[in-house]
Amino acid sequence: MEFSLKLSKIKPSATMAMNAKAQELRAQGKKIVSLAVGEPDFNTPDHVKQAAIDAINDNFTRYTPVPGIPGLRDAAAGYFKTFYGVESGPETIIITNGGKQSLYNIFTALLNPGDEVLIPAPYWVSYPDMVLLASGDPVIVPTTQESGFLTSPEELDKYWTPRTRILVLNSPSNPTGCTYPKDKLDAIAAWAVERNILVVSDEIYDQLVYPPAEPASLSPWFAKYPEHFAICNGLAKSFAMTGWRVGFCMAHPDLIKAMNKIQGQQTSNICSIAQKAALAALTGSFEGVKVMREAFERRRDLALSIISAWPGVHCVKPDGAFYLFPDLSTFYNDAVTGSADLAKIILEQAEVATVPGVAFGDDRCVRFSYAVADEVLTDALNRVGEVLTRL
Ligand SMILES: Cc1ncc(COP(=O)(O)O)c(C=O)c1O
Repeated sequence: MEFSLKLSKIKPSATMAMNAKAQELRAQGKKIVSLAVGEPDFNTPDHVKQAAIDAINDNFTRYTPVPGIPGLRDAAAGYFKTFYGVESGPETIIITNGGKQSLYNIFTALLNPGDEVLIPAPYWVSYPDMVLLASGDPVIVPTTQESGFLTSPEELDKYWTPRTRILVLNSPSNPTGCTYPKDKLDAIAAWAVERNILVVSDEIYDQLVYPPAEPASLSPWFAKYPEHFAICNGLAKSFAMTGWRVGFCMAHPDLIKAMNKIQGQQTSNICSIAQKAALAALTGSFEGVKVMREAFERRRDLALSIISAWPGVHCVKPDGAFYLFPDLSTFYNDAVTGSADLAKIILEQAEVATVPGVAFGDDRCVRFSYAVADEVLTDALNRVGEVLTRL
């Protein structure tokens, strides 16, 4: 069969490939523990599930407006008011099929062939491929461990060209967990305004920031310069709702209209029942979020203490999300030439699934998710440590 040129440019998801390999080994009877997961190991809160059950019983099962039911768009706007003091109306909000569709909508709405998108590395696996699918050119901006995997106006300037249209920022980050402090975020925002580009701020982990760090959002910059900022968020990580597929985006009303046009020809509204669940989540108690945040903070410390004790290993201490991204390149040699080889050895010998850093644009590192129970995490990391010290 002959496929499109676009398809030939994109890679299959590395996370999916690792999951497939883990499944294969499980089928052979191996007890694989997955630290490759990108979702909380908690259940969706009961009041959110109940709202969905009520929606079904009330026959709230028909098409809704493409950008979401009005109450939910208001609630998403209210989220930015509650957490970041930003006043905005429903005309600045679209509800999408996960945070992912907000990103696709934006890239599709704005990019023409030859337009460049700055993506600081390590980056979430999907950004470059999403840009390619939207006919843009991803431009990777490397960061260092010394800078805590954070970029800066000086670094961005090295990669900026007159074709640069968008900068993608992700804080807290998948895969590093690193979180921009407000002053660093402000400096980048000011640079973007000066350079006349749009910052797509993926803030999907903003509820999972560990004290003393504080969540910093670019939404106050959106309030001042709506043409320069689009803020993407969703309920997958904060409310353990990965399967429900609810994302939301705050952007200039013209961009929202363009995203609405694309979504209307693509998927229409997101599931009506999931919208009612999301409404209950955003307008109800955030107690469940707090419980998860405390558990993740404890596990971050637990996992970091084990990983930091591995000989020659350096791991930046992250302030958010639920990933650690240690540099394991000290274990590379003629037979183990990079993170893909190392992740394969870890999977086969320690029976632990991870994601090789090469998938996130940094081949020195391997991503470990700590969204698993404390005992499982301890046992799995100890097994990895034993395998590494034998190398
Ligand atoms: C950084 C980042 N952005 C966006 C998403 C997409 O989230 P959703 O499941 O809401 O599409 C993920 C999911 O892993 C992510 O890690």
